[in-house]
Amino acid sequence: MREKVEEILKEIEEFTADSKEKVEEFRIKWLSRNGKISHLFEEFKTVGPEIKKEMGQKLNQLKNKAEEKLKHYKEKFESTETTDENLDLTLPVENIATGSRHPLSIVRKEIIDVFGRIGFTVADGPEIEDDWHNFSALNFPEDHPARDMQDTFFIDNENKIALRTHTSSVQVRVMESTPPPIRMIFPGRVYRNEAVSSRAHCFFHQVEGLYVDKNVSFADLKQTLLYFAKEMFGEKSQIRLRPSYFPFTEPSAEMDISCTICGGKGCAFCKHSGWVEILGCGMVDPAVLDNCKIDSKKYTGFAFGMGIERITNLKYRINDLRLFSENDVRFLRQFRSAL
Ligand code: PHE
Repeated sequence: MREKVEEILKEIEEFTADSKEKVEEFRIKWLSRNGKISHLFEEFKTVGPEIKKEMGQKLNQLKNKAEEKLKHYKEKFESTETTDENLDLTLPVENIATGSRHPLSIVRKEIIDVFGRIGFTVADGPEIEDDWHNFSALNFPEDHPARDMQDTFFIDNENKIALRTHTSSVQVRVMESTPPPIRMIFPGRVYRNEAVSSRAHCFFHQVEGLYVDKNVSFADLKQTLLYFAKEMFGEKSQIRLRPSYFPFTEPSAEMDISCTICGGKGCAFCKHSGWVEILGCGMVDPAVLDNCKIDSKKYTGFAFGMGIERITNLKYRINDLRLFSENDVRFLRQFRSAL
């Protein structure tokens, strides 16, 4: 038996394979249940005790060697399988269906980039808010109509927990936790109880801006917004501020930009006025600073809030708000090449 084992060991050591079939033949010959090595183990049961130990070791060595060879060649042929001669490398590749960024995400990123270049960082806050952060700290009088059930989606009436109606709530959260100087923007989704139409939706997106430091002036606000308009809509863009009212800013204004469609000459989009409203803004009311434990004698600030949908409509000439949330791929696909 000793010679037989030596011979087989040699044969296995010398074995080479140049095809998958040869490897399979090798496996059947030596390692299958009916293979030669199985038979040798059968034979081993009958050998005398004087060579049992030696033969046992030899047989195990043999089996290990055969298994090693098999593994080696199996791996070799598996890894070269792709070089199958039937593979035609000149065939055109199949299209990979890639997604595209949502237009609102594209514009939000652009707004973040524009303000980032002049030192504004980004923060966010919760969409479910309490009365303090959404209204009270922002100086809304107790009987203000915006607190009315008509405008606000309340989640818990008793505790006045609601879906935030604007991102100004994040102003409060940031001022409560961050000592000035503060120079930040807060993008996010907001909710209002409105009937859905092409011009209004029950949820939309805003970007809030807040700058609090010593000696911040209305001129700083105006220059920042002019910079934004030019970066976003081109060097020729102009802005105009109209006096307005918000409980949390004083003075307050609404900002229009020269219509991007007609360049200010007047068209259907700007209702022939040459201007389109894009945001609300103003100097942070000293009472709001005090509510957030910022000393209003030492610090001043400005804030603004814009709708991302409105900016996107202007940039891409979209005229129906509902398109943004319907997920119609025929609409979404058109933004594939943007950013
Ligand atoms: N929060 C206001 C709105 O939703 C916008 C705004 C923000 C106005 C900041 C002034 C300052 O209409």
